[in-house]
Amino acid sequence: MAHLLSTSCSIKVSTGCKPYSLPYKQDLSAFPTSLTLQASESPFTRLVSRGEKHQRNYTVHATTLPVNKEGPTQPSSGSHQTLKEPSKPQRVMVIGGDGYCGWATALHLSNKGYEVAIVDSLVRRLFDHQLGIDSLTPIHSIHNRLRCWKSLTGKTIELYIGDICDFEFLSETFKLFEPDAVVHFGEQRSAPYSMIDRSRAVYTQQNNVTGTLNVLFAIKEFREQCHLVKLGTMGEYGTPNIDIEEGYITITHNGRTDTLPYPKQASSFYHLSKVHDSNNIAFTCKAWGIRATDLNQGVVYGVRTDETEMHEELCNRFDYDGVFGTALNRFCVQAAVGHPLTVYGKGGQTRAFLDIRDTVQCVELAIANPAQPGEFRVFNQFTEQFSINDLATLVTKAGEKLGLNVQSISVPNPRVEAEEHYYNPKHTKLVELGLKPHILSDSLLDSLLNFAIKYKDRVDTKQIMPSVSWRKIGVKTRTIAA
Ligand SMILES: NC(=O)c1ccc[n+]([C@@H]2O[C@H](COP(=O)([O-])OP(=O)(O)OC[C@H]3O[C@@H](n4cnc5c(N)ncnc54)[C@H](O)[C@@H]3O)[C@@H](O)[C@H]2O)c1
Repeated sequence: MAHLLSTSCSIKVSTGCKPYSLPYKQDLSAFPTSLTLQASESPFTRLVSRGEKHQRNYTVHATTLPVNKEGPTQPSSGSHQTLKEPSKPQRVMVIGGDGYCGWATALHLSNKGYEVAIVDSLVRRLFDHQLGIDSLTPIHSIHNRLRCWKSLTGKTIELYIGDICDFEFLSETFKLFEPDAVVHFGEQRSAPYSMIDRSRAVYTQQNNVTGTLNVLFAIKEFREQCHLVKLGTMGEYGTPNIDIEEGYITITHNGRTDTLPYPKQASSFYHLSKVHDSNNIAFTCKAWGIRATDLNQGVVYGVRTDETEMHEELCNRFDYDGVFGTALNRFCVQAAVGHPLTVYGKGGQTRAFLDIRDTVQCVELAIANPAQPGEFRVFNQFTEQFSINDLATLVTKAGEKLGLNVQSISVPNPRVEAEEHYYNPKHTKLVELGLKPHILSDSLLDSLLNFAIKYKDRVDTKQIMPSVSWRKIGVKTRTIAA
């Protein structure tokens, strides 16, 4: 039985929550601080089982406040809404709501009038702790974040702290919150992390695949009509030498024609976990009539959304290190601290990208226009594509305008991937639902760079170079912190 400590952290409105006035104070008190990884068979499992033994009651149900009575506003940019106006606010569970995409999304949905609950094990903060890395931006504890949000807007976001791989815990959250939609961001999401060593590879697949399976079973058992909005990745497709469709491709073979799932060619144990998730979700849509949307998201950049910039305590995380940092965010930080931009190999690797403001918009559109029962819908969630060399050029030019001397270097590619290739993925379905993309502009690059400059004293330059090699992965548990 999972124990929910109801109201033990009932949200109290913080009077000290003044915009941009408080000094940074990071709260990691929930995590053990003496963790070493070198000798551990499975560092993460060890921590979790410790949590289960001694902190089985660590789950917190942190809400006592009245819910917002207004229904959700329709997505600002949506034009083809198929959802009937709900009589009461839709209840959206955001799994992984303490993370980069999840935090921005939870706030956005709350702001739009949805009743939101965050479910998160806070394991991402633990990874940082394990690897000796930190967000460029100072991020506050989830409890402070939620208190601040309540204080600024009067809106409550419920909080359930626990691991979705623990089905008892997840069942309790479903029974208590009764979600109409679940947005599932709650996975180990770094390809390099999954390639550090065997234990991280196994952990990534166990965490991601089991967590998603549990969500599917919870929907079947407790909320059959609940719409699953699952974050997949464009990396599931790999880089085939043909156009990439949105989820499905129609093939004629030996005179017969069928529409089939688009072939997947994942390039890390992380990406493979996403492919397994997609297959499990597709199967349960068919077998049980689950309604699901798989959002194959591109690489996300940016840090600010309308909601996170309301207060310093709401600030989102911004990863720049070689394990969790994504390309454009990394390049901006590198430019800000005078580190050469680290182009992997030839730099012709082309990927799909989107602004974090579009992540939240896309998720809202998916929720407002749900899949039908039994439908496994796939959207390619990105707005533009760039090669790594394109990004380096853009950041160099933007940096020069700010007086920075930006250089690029080619570093040996730690990944196994094509460095020059064809890339043409489709991405029309979210636009048809009303997505108004934020295109990567000079002004956005300026603002990203200025952001990186603002926090450059927090940069640990030892974390910039890639430290995980696809080819050198082995059985032995590695520590990669400098
Ligand atoms: N950030 C990107 O550029 C990007 C690109 C494509 C896809 N995605 C996908 O979007 C999702 C969110 O990515 P992100 O960048 O916000 O990651 P993140 O690491 O910042 O956040 C993930 C959150 O999920 C939580 N979590 C992980 N496992 C959990 C579990 N078993 N139970 C409960 N909570 C758990 C973590 O504590 C963390 O707060 C991931 O599924 C990722 O694969 C992200």
